[in-house]
Amino acid sequence: MVADRLAPFGATIFTTITALAHEHQAIDLGQGYPSWEGPDFVKEAAREALLHESNQYPPSMGIGILQRAIADRFLVTSGIEVDPSAEITVTSGCTEALAATFLGYLNPGDEVVLFEPAYDAYPVGCALAGAIPRYVTLHAPDFRFDETELRAAFGPRTRMIVVNSPHNPTGRVFDRAEMTLIAELCQEHDVVAVTDEVYEYITYGTEHIRMATLPGMWDRTLTLSSIGKSFSVTGWKTGWAIGPEPLTRALRAAHQYLTFTTPNPMQHGAAAALKAPESYFSELRSMYQAKRDTLVAGLQAVGFQATAPEGAYYVLADHRSFGFANDVEFVRNLITNIGVAAIPPSAFYHRSTEGDHLVRFAFCKDEATLRAALERIARL
Ligand SMILES: Cc1ncc(COP(=O)(O)O)c(C=O)c1O
Repeated sequence: MVADRLAPFGATIFTTITALAHEHQAIDLGQGYPSWEGPDFVKEAAREALLHESNQYPPSMGIGILQRAIADRFLVTSGIEVDPSAEITVTSGCTEALAATFLGYLNPGDEVVLFEPAYDAYPVGCALAGAIPRYVTLHAPDFRFDETELRAAFGPRTRMIVVNSPHNPTGRVFDRAEMTLIAELCQEHDVVAVTDEVYEYITYGTEHIRMATLPGMWDRTLTLSSIGKSFSVTGWKTGWAIGPEPLTRALRAAHQYLTFTTPNPMQHGAAAALKAPESYFSELRSMYQAKRDTLVAGLQAVGFQATAPEGAYYVLADHRSFGFANDVEFVRNLITNIGVAAIPPSAFYHRSTEGDHLVRFAFCKDEATLRAALERIARL
């Protein structure tokens, strides 16, 4: 039974922490959702569609205007021209794109290279498909991988590697040398790269490199993303997969029976969002950069070892100076006695125990919330 394979994962760490945070009325720097609502022009487009467009099943692979908007944005940011109807699939969030990819492409017993700390959908996706994860650790404090460890993770049964950059929870944005090595190994071992790029626009002066743009990689890359993080509408669960026709066909085989389609108003809202001017994306970056700097400085002032992330909206801080046995104990104390929720990152580690001395704080919160949380954290 698949449920048996999923049993070790239990409830998601986000569900557990959110419930505990609620119980103790803690300020939530745990789950990665913005504390504000998405831009009006995006919500207006969805509202218009809800009132004036069809409320019946949209096409299974996405409405034409959204496929076109995704293709246009991809051309601007990668230089690659794609066929929207054959190479773009609209999904119910990046989560569904991941599930459809794992289920549509993998056979039981196939191996998948995952970097740890790993976003929980990847090991769960492997479990759903009966595939076996091979973990490569991003080592603290700079969260880079060791080339020998990465090479050793590839073998005759490897079929896929998942590359999440900008990375949750470390905030790493893989550099060109790292991406090139991954690309070379994919080609050497005939492996497909699945990239999770949901934080693609949230980088702080470091270039976001798309795997699909590296030599020889378009044919073996599925680029997954969504509008949740880029447009502060994480509840919309509207995402997509971009890739060559054979890979797209595999994920579509699963997608059409997993969700079949994604709500029409959200697709219209997403299409409007992706037509935003470049200034929207640069303002998003500066807004997050200011929040990042506030949080990192506040945590350092209290005694955490914390470095500024290159991308995404999390800080992975070292809590060892406070004397707790591990991250779970630290977070339990933080929620119940200090009134701030954070995520214990050991939940993202499977091979090493490096997560035990770390704690993940999300800074996708308004200034007042961040300041209030830091005031409480100072009581540590
Ligand atoms: C790395 C990563 N991938 C995917 C998701 C989920 O994306 P979506 O809401 O579009 O399903 C998240 C959400 O936190 C994430 O951090």
